[in-house]
Amino acid sequence: MKNLLMAGMAAVMPMTAQCEDVLVFAGSTRAESVNKKLAQEAARIAQGMGAKVTVIDLRDFSIPLYDADLEANSGMPKNAKRLRDLMIANQSIVIVSPEYNASIPAVLKNALDWASRGEKGGSSRNAFKGKKFALMSASPSGMGGSRALIHLRTIVEAVGGQVVEKQVSVPNAYEKGALDNSALQKELKEQLSQLMTNEVNR
Ligand SMILES: Cc1cc2nc3c(=O)[nH]c(=O)nc-3n(C[C@H](O)[C@H](O)[C@H](O)COP(=O)(O)O)c2cc1C
Repeated sequence: MKNLLMAGMAAVMPMTAQCEDVLVFAGSTRAESVNKKLAQEAARIAQGMGAKVTVIDLRDFSIPLYDADLEANSGMPKNAKRLRDLMIANQSIVIVSPEYNASIPAVLKNALDWASRGEKGGSSRNAFKGKKFALMSASPSGMGGSRALIHLRTIVEAVGGQVVEKQVSVPNAYEKGALDNSALQKELKEQLSQLMTNEVNR
C-alpha cells in the first residue's frame, strides 16, 4: 500500500533534473563588447552552479551572410556548421544580445538563420527544438537593450526553442561596476536556475 502511494505521488510530483551542458555566446564581435562581458559573467555563475559551460565568440566564426545560392552551390559554410553543431551538442543556450535600432544585430540574426538550416539545405529545428534558452542584453542606454530581447525571443521561439521566462537586461553598461555587482549576480543566478533546472513530471 505504501509503495503504491509512493508510486502515485511520483507520477504527479515534479522532479528536478540539473542540466549540465550550457553554450554561451554574445551577438557582438567587438573586442570590448559589454555583451561579451555579460556573457562571461553568466558563464562564470553557471559554472559555479555545476554546469559544463562552453563560451564562444562569434568573432572566431566569421559566418558569411546567408545566401540561398551560396547554400545551394556550396552547402552550409564551415563556420555555420561549427556553430550549429555546438548548439545541437548543448542542452541549454545563453544568448547575450546588444540592441541595434531596437532589434538584434545582423551578425546574430545571420548566425541564427544559418543555424535554422539543415546541412543539406531546407529548414531544420535541430539546433533549437527541445532546448532551453536564456536571453540577456547589455547596453549603454537606460533600457539595457531590452527591446532587442523581444525580437530575439520571437525568433528563438519561432524555430522551436523554449525561452525561460526571466530575462536580464543591464542598463548603463559602460559605467563602472554595471556588469559586476551583487544585484546583477542575483538576477543571473535566478535566470540560470530557470535555464538549468528541468521540471520533469514523472
Ligand atoms: C547600428 C547601431 C545601432 C544601435 N542601436 C541601439 C539601440 O537601439 N538601443 C541601444 O540601447 N543601443 C544601441 N546602440 C548602441 C549599442 O548598445 C552599443 O554600441 C553597445 O556597446 C553594443 O554592444 P557591445 O558593446 O556588446 O558591442 C546601437 C549601436 C549601433 C552600432
